[in-house]
Formats: sequence, C-alpha cells, structure tokens
Amino acid sequence: MKFLSKTSVFHKLESEVRGYCRRFDAVFTTANGSIIRDIDGREYIDFLAACGALNYGHNDPDMAAALVTHITANGIAAGLDLFSAVKAEFLDRFNGLILEPRGLDYRVQFTGPTGTNAVEAAMKLSRKVTGRTNIVAFTNSFHGVSMGALAATGNRHHRMGMLLPGVSRAPYEGYFGPGLDTVGYLDQLLSDPSSGIDLPAAILLETVQGEGGLNVASRSWIQRMAALAKAHGALLIIDDVQAGCGRTGKFFSFEEMEIVPDLVVLSKSISGFGLPMAIVLVKPEFDLWEPAEHNGTFRGNSHAFVTSRVALEKFWCDSRFSRRIADRASIVTTYLRHISNLVPEAGLKGRGMLQGISMGSGDLADKICRLCFKKGLMIETAGAHDEVIKIMAPLTTPVNLLKKGLEILQEATSEVMRRSQPATIDPIHPKGEEGGSLRVPESIPANAAEPGGPLRITASVD
Ligand SMILES: Cc1ncc(COP(=O)(O)O)c(C=O)c1O
Repeated sequence: MKFLSKTSVFHKLESEVRGYCRRFDAVFTTANGSIIRDIDGREYIDFLAACGALNYGHNDPDMAAALVTHITANGIAAGLDLFSAVKAEFLDRFNGLILEPRGLDYRVQFTGPTGTNAVEAAMKLSRKVTGRTNIVAFTNSFHGVSMGALAATGNRHHRMGMLLPGVSRAPYEGYFGPGLDTVGYLDQLLSDPSSGIDLPAAILLETVQGEGGLNVASRSWIQRMAALAKAHGALLIIDDVQAGCGRTGKFFSFEEMEIVPDLVVLSKSISGFGLPMAIVLVKPEFDLWEPAEHNGTFRGNSHAFVTSRVALEKFWCDSRFSRRIADRASIVTTYLRHISNLVPEAGLKGRGMLQGISMGSGDLADKICRLCFKKGLMIETAGAHDEVIKIMAPLTTPVNLLKKGLEILQEATSEVMRRSQPATIDPIHPKGEEGGSLRVPESIPANAAEPGGPLRITASVD
C-alpha cells in the first residue's frame, strides 16, 4: 500500500476520537526494544511503551520466536475458554513463578482482552459476592472507558454521556492535602447509616494512579484501606493494569504493602508482547461465578498466552529483574530532580518506573512533550490537566538509552522554559538604546550527569 501522503489517509478516514497520534504525528513502521521508527526512517526513544503494554519493550526476540514457532506449527489462535496447551503452560508458569513464590492463592479469570473488560468483571463479581451494588472508587482514578468501568473513572473528559450509577467517589490519599485523613473520612461515611453512601461491594483502587497523574498511595494508607474494606464487608480490588507487571518495581504494585487484595486486575503488559490479554485474580472463596455467567469471545488469545509464558520465564524466575528495575528507577529520579530545577512549579511524581514530573500546567507539559518528539523522544502526559509528564520507558531499556531519553527531556524542558521567559529590558540601556540589549534570563544549566549531543541511538545491553 502506498500512503496518499504521510498522514492524509488517517485525517480523511479515521475518527476524530484518535488521540495519541495528534501529539506523535508520524507513521510508524518498525520497533524493537525501546526504539520505534517511522516511515521516514527516523528513530524515537519510546518512553510511552504503548501506555504500559510494552514493559519488556517492542518485539522481544524470545517472545517473537516462540510466537512464530507457535503460528507456523498451526498452534491454536482464538481459543474462547477452551482448554489449550498454551493456556495450561501460561497458568502453570503464572502459578509457579508469580503466585506461589509470593504466597498468593488466586484463581485466574480470563476476561475480554482489555483492562476495562477485566475491571468490569471484577466489579460485577464483587457485586455478586456481596449482594451489594455500590463500588467505592477514588478521585483521579482511571479504570477504563466502557460503561461499567467508566462509572469508576474520575476524569470528566472521559465521563461524557449517560453514566451508570452504583459508584461512590472517595478522596484518594492527599487529595485535600496532608491535613485530611481520607481513610478516616471514608470510614466515617461507611459507618454512618445516614451518610447517604451505601455500603460497598468493593473498594476499587490503584496503588499509583497512572492516568490520574502518578499519585502514589502510601503503604499505610493502602493497609488501612484494606482493613477498612474488610471491616465494612467489602472486597478490595486492586487495579494493577498499569502499575503491575513490574512497572512499580515488583510484579505486583502492592507486594511490599503486606496486603492480599480480594481481586486483582491485570492487563496491558501481562501478555509481555503488547498482545491483548486481561485477567482477574480471584481469591478462591470469592470465585462464585456460574459457568459462562460472564463471558466474551476473545478470552482465549492463545498468542498472548505464548508470549506471556515466555515473559514470565525470562524476567520473573528470580529477583534480578526487580533489581534492574530499581536501578533504572533511581536513574529516572536523579534526572527528574535536575529537571525539576528548571521549572518553578515542578514536582516529582510516581514510583518505580512509573515516575514523572508535574510541570504545573498542561500547556507547558504539552509544549515540552512536542519538542521532545521533534528531538526523538516519545513521551506522554497524565493528570487532571495533563500537567504531568509521564515516563513509561520499557523496563528493559538499556541504561544509556534511558539516560539519552532523559537528557532529551531535560533539553526540551530547558528550551521551552527559556523561550517562555518574558524578555526583560536591560535597566541600564532601556528601550534597546545603542549598547542596550534585550536580556532573556538564562535557564539553569543542564545537569552534568551525561553530556547531551545529537540523538544517536545506540542501545547497548547491560
Ligand atoms: C489502571 C488502569 N485500569 C484500567 C485501564 C483500562 O485499560 P484498557 O485501556 O486496556 O481498557 C487502564 C488504562 O490505561 C489503566 O491505567
């Protein structure tokens, strides 16, 4: 196929609902690891990673090889919820490498292949188990945009049209600043039969709000929220669609919090390869589904089972990968600290490899991201006003490439800040008299961690 012109076919035919392509205006062709290429052969460092669906980078060679072998051997592709050899292998490795070593006992429910499908299944199951309707969801949360999950999503931009009832909104940790105990607040509402908030079937939360602006809940807040759910007879659902699969450091984002959620939702990187797949982990005592009570044609993406199994074997057979993630996360933090010195309003957000920087304004963050793209870095925003620049580099990004991407972010921030400073008049030679000059305040020099220089992408394995 020949493109009419670079992007005119999309402008002509694709719905206005398209989003990411508006900021990243290129036609992409190939990708490997943390590099994505466009039709003109230009390379970009990918700090978007399909919004967390590519935690292991693009086209991991081992996953690709296993998938090609499976396909060329006429391995099953669409499997509904039939028993299949590749599903058995996935379940076996998931149990052996993820659940058992963490002392977790869950049944695995395969849902329709997106995060929002799995969130809806978890909400529905919690309602069935408890006989209640209400779900508590939090300010700034994002759980997907299909109608059930959308009712729990906070952002008004997505919450258009008629919304389903049955969700009560509660403030996330820190929403009203440090002075208000948001767990105590919710406890009060749930304890008071006259508060107007019905006892919930579930409390649904993200340990780090990915789309909501990288808001991090503390260990004690999560623990207290888990205890609160139990005390009020509600299930605790952790939506680990974005923060899970290693993104925050361990396989699950709640691992170091000493809680055991009743239901856990995983999608995005669970397939390892960017293939559609989603699951709900269900404590056995809550697995009260009738056969086929909740179904969906695409619950058996066998290609995803193949790549997921390889991802588990390759990255999660011991603790080395988590240590590599921690090393990269501290590099990100170091750079972000320097970058925050460039912007008066800046603040660091997130944890693990789900970090970012609030620029204080969506307009500023947008300008920086657009300039980053021109310089060869693909990076996105999050937050209520899209004011947070979010670093979602693949967890496998080689250190030199990670640094290179962060340098581009730093350069772009510095440039945008320099341009946005109002030119001030030299008080000694006002109005540009002879010898006078318009002074543009210098931005803080770029940090000295690594020299900048033109983008030359050479990924070395470390
Ligand atoms: C925490 C969380 N839950 C659910 C979803 C919805 O996933 P999907 O876009 O695959 O429906 C997302 C997507 O970004 C998410 O971040």
